[in-house]
Amino acid sequence: MASRPRCDATPAWRALQAHFEDTGRAFDLHRAFEADAKRFERFSQSAPQVFADLSKNLWDADTEALLLQLAAQCGVAAYRDALFAGQAINTTERRAVKHWLLRAGPEADDPDAAEVQQTLAAMLAYAERVRADEAITDIVHIGIGGSDLGPRMAVAALAAYRGPGKRFHFVSNIDGHDLAAVLAQVQPAGTLFIIASKTFTTLETMTNARSACAWFQAEGGTDIARHFAALTSNVEAARAFGITTTFGFREWVGGRYSLWSAIGLPLAIAIGAEGFHALLRGAREMDAHFRTAPLAANLPVRLGLLDVWYRNFHRFASRSIAPYHGGLQRLPAYLQQLEMESNGKRVDLQGAALPYDTAPVLWGEPGTDGQHAFFQMLHQGTQSVPVEFIAVRQPAHALPDHHRLLLANALAQAQALMQGRSDPGGHRHFTGNRPSSFLVLEALTPESLGAFIALQEHRVFTSGAVWGINSFDQWGVELGKALAQDLAPRFASGDNTGLDASTAGLLDRLR
Ligand code: F6P
Repeated sequence: MASRPRCDATPAWRALQAHFEDTGRAFDLHRAFEADAKRFERFSQSAPQVFADLSKNLWDADTEALLLQLAAQCGVAAYRDALFAGQAINTTERRAVKHWLLRAGPEADDPDAAEVQQTLAAMLAYAERVRADEAITDIVHIGIGGSDLGPRMAVAALAAYRGPGKRFHFVSNIDGHDLAAVLAQVQPAGTLFIIASKTFTTLETMTNARSACAWFQAEGGTDIARHFAALTSNVEAARAFGITTTFGFREWVGGRYSLWSAIGLPLAIAIGAEGFHALLRGAREMDAHFRTAPLAANLPVRLGLLDVWYRNFHRFASRSIAPYHGGLQRLPAYLQQLEMESNGKRVDLQGAALPYDTAPVLWGEPGTDGQHAFFQMLHQGTQSVPVEFIAVRQPAHALPDHHRLLLANALAQAQALMQGRSDPGGHRHFTGNRPSSFLVLEALTPESLGAFIALQEHRVFTSGAVWGINSFDQWGVELGKALAQDLAPRFASGDNTGLDASTAGLLDRLR
């Protein structure tokens, strides 16, 4: 596709800089609501399965108009269309980026559509067999990063939709405490081990898989075909490992975008084929919204542009995720990888160093726990941190008083951040004017979760498109992996040749 101008070279970028100096830096939310009786309507919108109130953010109609000009001048819509046309937009790995195809349905106009449907059907049929198999009581999913966070997050989020008779365990860390704790709870005859690794080479996953297999055999297990399955793009490596039940996916599925692929098997076992189809349907609805809604009414685009406004003009270094739903415990970690592995880049598509910032730090905890931990800093610390509240209107439990109090707390925190409280000179003074977005799901269902995750994918795509970076590679994790390979044998040998003094000293202490 044609090259796009760099964002900092566009007229809109310069206009945003001037706008920030004029009214952005001193923007006052209180005055903005007073001046515009329609502010809530103007800055809130519905998208498939998600309602978003963006009105408590430090922007006005002029800001958003300039951000939309920025998107236009950076060719965001054309870049989005290139994504959905299957062009090789992951240029450093020379790959298309087609996780959207995994949820596009059988009628998708793509050469890989038939293969996707075959794999999905095979994976879901297997999931249904496992669901019906009463002898299997424990599912142990072994994977890391994108091969762990998606299914782990979604299985917890959709606990209310889980079938009976199965416990789910996730092992990701190479820390033996993780695997040992799970193995202590399971029996070989009742366990299905799922080894999830796109490459089937990742040190953590391979080490955990080998140890799990050794444990299985040492405990008398023999039927590997029944008790082990692999989810991977490297089916030969899985076979060489001794696993014959495999489900594949193609190289154009990035790890952090792989929940929709065979990597979703534990979720499919948990919620069944129908539930998994609903997850895909929700994501597909959001894909259609992202592809077709005008940019000014396109929720992922609006969120992505807001992220750019905050990162590059307000210079906010982080964003806090505050899901007010216990099932979304792992959502902050999931979104962390999505944003920070995608957009934590310091060079443009040509490899030239960037003079502007990219991904913010993402962090968070479910409410109300977060309120009693770090919200003090959000309200009265020296830096503003935009907060993204996520609330679910209908709970999956029958304790309505709890839910009312939970939602009241979410609303109160957003209100307090914005309003503040005056106690000039005193410790009880809250400056207020602290920005937040408020996303609402009607209920946490497979469909709404699918739409919500696709929304987050596309907002990360939008800011990455403006920044002109490759949101789909992750070279930054390579160096540490290589150094760990070098250091591991030194623990046995004690050899510290060529190491810096600190690493040598610590090696000495740790071995
Ligand atoms: O953290 C780096 C990374 O490559 C992630 O992008 C990926 O999700 C994870 O490692 C796991 O990789 P694999 O699925 O190949 O084991």
